[in-house]
Amino acid sequence: MATIKKKALVIGAGTGGYPCAIRLGQLGVDAMLVEKDKPGGVCLNVGCIPSKALISATKLYHKAQHAKDMGLSFGQPAVDMVQMQVWKSGIVKKLTGGVQTLVKGAGTTYVKATAEFLDAHRVKLTYSDGKPEDIVEAEHIVIATGSLPIEIPGFKFDHKRVLDSTSALDLATIPKRMVCVGGGIIGLELGQTFQRLGAQLVVLEGLTRILNGVDLECAEVVARQIKKDGGQIHTGAKAIGWEERNGEAVVKAEVGGKVVEFPCDVILVAVGRRPVSQGFGLDKTGVKVSQRGFIEVDSRLQTNVPGIYAVGDIVGQPMLAHKASHEGEVVAEVIAGKKTINDARQIPNVVFTEPEIASSGLTVEEAEAKGRKTNVGKFPFVVSGRAMAIGETSGFVKIVTDAEDDRVLGVHIVGPEASDLISEAALAIEMGAYAEDIALTIHPHPTLSEAVMEAAKHALGEAIHIGNTKRSH
Ligand code: NAI
Repeated sequence: MATIKKKALVIGAGTGGYPCAIRLGQLGVDAMLVEKDKPGGVCLNVGCIPSKALISATKLYHKAQHAKDMGLSFGQPAVDMVQMQVWKSGIVKKLTGGVQTLVKGAGTTYVKATAEFLDAHRVKLTYSDGKPEDIVEAEHIVIATGSLPIEIPGFKFDHKRVLDSTSALDLATIPKRMVCVGGGIIGLELGQTFQRLGAQLVVLEGLTRILNGVDLECAEVVARQIKKDGGQIHTGAKAIGWEERNGEAVVKAEVGGKVVEFPCDVILVAVGRRPVSQGFGLDKTGVKVSQRGFIEVDSRLQTNVPGIYAVGDIVGQPMLAHKASHEGEVVAEVIAGKKTINDARQIPNVVFTEPEIASSGLTVEEAEAKGRKTNVGKFPFVVSGRAMAIGETSGFVKIVTDAEDDRVLGVHIVGPEASDLISEAALAIEMGAYAEDIALTIHPHPTLSEAVMEAAKHALGEAIHIGNTKRSH
């Protein structure tokens, strides 16, 4: 057993850990990144990237089916699910392979091993190939161990009938009927994907609305689309279990005080994720862990134990890859002795449904709960020339401003390319922009981004391509 001395050790090569390791290398810190599985974590291997590959392929399939109005005919488009999975896996392989190259290129050591704390500054590395264990002694240790899907009573994952997001992403056949337990981000993204590939979809959501936390009007646009495509969404429906009956799965849910049954072929359970804070000796470090397993950190992402930091899903909501990466980079700068702190004003949130939903900053309800009087500007895609030209006119851009001074508090977009359009809003909010800053910025024509400009103008009573509810001054 050899002892390796490093200035910094990062545990976990997901979207929190690997950018941290790269930035440490860039800053000249002698660092090591340790990962027991494949590099890239949930995002690259079994989350953001593979799901977006399937979603974009499905979108193309759907467009091909509905292109007659544009004068295009492709015969009867067909899905080869096995080939779609091969294509998806190719993308994942390319990206995960790139992670190691980037880490090593930045000068950080990459090691495939299982890490376990011996105390606050010593970590044991166990190798799967039988190589003798090593001990790493490091002044700074970053925990980036991520999260796992939550399993609820009555729905043990067997990855045949009861799927988590990982096994759903690997389906090699399209189920005829899918029940999604949980009308959150994963349930709707993956549920709608399989619906658009041909499955009959039933969403069971325990709360009174889907996509809790997302602007309600935006969520309703997606709910309408799912129903228009023949799917069912049951809110106030708490799934309590399932049984195998006559060759099918029957899900039971409490709806309005009664138990209702939903027959199906597969059940996707997406009821949230839990932090991975056990199984690697965290209890030997003295790091404070909440009852729900999250690690508490300060604005420099340091735990209560000096020299131990945590980033990404393990520190709590929102569990988003881009939040984790940002935190990883902040920690690297802290370790390198910079005065950086984690002071983001906003973290964009995107739901890759059809249409997409993207938001940055506060909803009206959140702003008002903070005691702010709000004003709303809105521009629908149905009057956008570009949206018509791409045949995707459903949705709108909504800008929430402070009624006192027109400062942009939040932007909520549901519609085509919302995931890309939101970055302008993110920058605006981060820089403390006013509605006027967006309204007076010349946007290129004809683009979807004009809708963001028009929504800002609408908030000021100055929209050109839609009637104004507010009087311009
Ligand atoms: P979620 O928290 O978004 O939604 C889970 C839903 O399940 C909740 O609405 C909850 O009320 C409901 N639920 C819980 N128990 C239930 C029951 N027994 N019956 C019916 N409904 C029940 O969790 P989800 O979708 O699993 O996603 C986990 C995390 O992954 C999210 O917090 C998100 O941060 C992240 N993620 C982000 C994506 C993105 O940025 N596009 C994509 C996928 C995941």
